[in-house]
Order: sequence, then structure tokens, then C-alpha cells
Amino acid sequence: MKLFLVLSFVLLGAISARQLHEAAPEQEVPTEQGEEEPGEPEPPCPTESESFRMIVPGSGGHTCRYVFVNNCQTFWRAQQLCARCYRGRLASIHNYSTNHRLRCTARARTNRGQVWIGGITSRRHRCLRSHWIDHSPWNYSNWARGNPRNCRKSCVALCTAGGHWRNVNCRARLPFICAY
Ligand SMILES: *[C@@H]1O[C@H](CO)[C@@H](O)[C@H](O)[C@H]1NC(C)=O
Ligand SMILES: *[C@@H]1O[C@H](CO)[C@@H](O)[C@H](O)[C@H]1NC(C)=O
Repeated sequence: MKLFLVLSFVLLGAISARQLHEAAPEQEVPTEQGEEEPGEPEPPCPTESESFRMIVPGSGGHTCRYVFVNNCQTFWRAQQLCARCYRGRLASIHNYSTNHRLRCTARARTNRGQVWIGGITSRRHRCLRSHWIDHSPWNYSNWARGNPRNCRKSCVALCTAGGHWRNVNCRARLPFICAY
């Protein structure tokens, strides 16, 4: 009897451990953050002078808030700053008018030709797939000619001159746009 009980506990434990493992939600590649700059302290929040806030009244009373940060960071550092300092995420873009608005403001408020937005492109079974870090649908894109390029993993930058998107190495340091 005792042995039976012990056995069933062991079995139960094994099953629930497996279920837990299977039920674990897919993580948004957080390991890369650590691998990227080992030992480097997290940067402080952007100062007022290097950030510009923009509020866009949307349809149906839905307001979009953005902050343009003119402080160059890697994609994952930028995403961390969006989360920690603004409780937001790198911005996703779902139509031409938002793309146009963001690129014009980015051009005026940042000093590089490209800024991070919240897209990630990865290769799966030889197919390139892109998605937004905020999990909203990928239902609009504005790729520059020759993009998305076929590399293992890259992040999406908005070109402030023409509003086109390019795949850039996620470790590049660029200004960025958070949505919050
Ligand atoms: C474009 O997208 C924004 C945010 O997703 C939305 O508020 C706006 O209404 C959209 N504009 C058009 C013209 O669809
Ligand atoms: C694309 O997705 C956004 C975010 O969910 C949504 O607001 C918008 O209506 C969608 N646009 C189209 C054309 O489906």
C-alpha cells in the first residue's frame, strides 16, 4: 500500500511537471537580452531632452501614444527601455497613415536615418516570417526593395527618409519609437 502511494505520487509529479513544461507560454526571446551585452548595466531612462512624446487621437476614441527616443540602443535594450520607462513596447504599425506620421516625426526628432520599430523577422524552414513584438497582427508592411533580407534573425528599422522598412542586425544601435 505504502509503495503504491509513493509510486502514484512519483507518477503524478512526473505528469504535472510535463504538463507545466508543455503549458509554458512561448517566451519572446528574452534570453537574447542577457546574451547580448553581458555585464553591461541597464541604461537609465531617456532624459526629457532626448525623448519626444506624440499623442495621436485614433478612430473610436482610441488614442495612440508614442515616444521618440533619440538615444541609440540595440533592439532588445530599446524594448526594455520602452517597457521600463514608459510601460510600453516598441511601436507596431498597421497602416500607411501611421507609418507616414511616425516617419515624419522620427525624421524631425532623431538624428539617424533609421529608427527601431517593434518588428522581428526570422527564418523558419527557409521561409521568412515577421511579427510584431506586441503580438498585434502583421497586416501591413512597407519593405524597402530587397527586404526582408534572408538572414537568420533580424529586427525591423524604419527609414526616416522614405518611410520604408529594412531588416537590420538586432545588435545595431539606433534611436527608437515606443508606443504606450
Ligand atoms: C491607422 O492605425 C491607427 C493605429 O493602429 C488607427 O488608430 C487609425 O485609425 C488607422 N487609420 C486608418 C486610416 O486606418
Ligand atoms: C490590423 O491590425 C490592427 C491591430 O489589431 C487593427 O486595428 C487593424 O484594423 C488591422 N487592419 C486591417 C486592414 O485588418
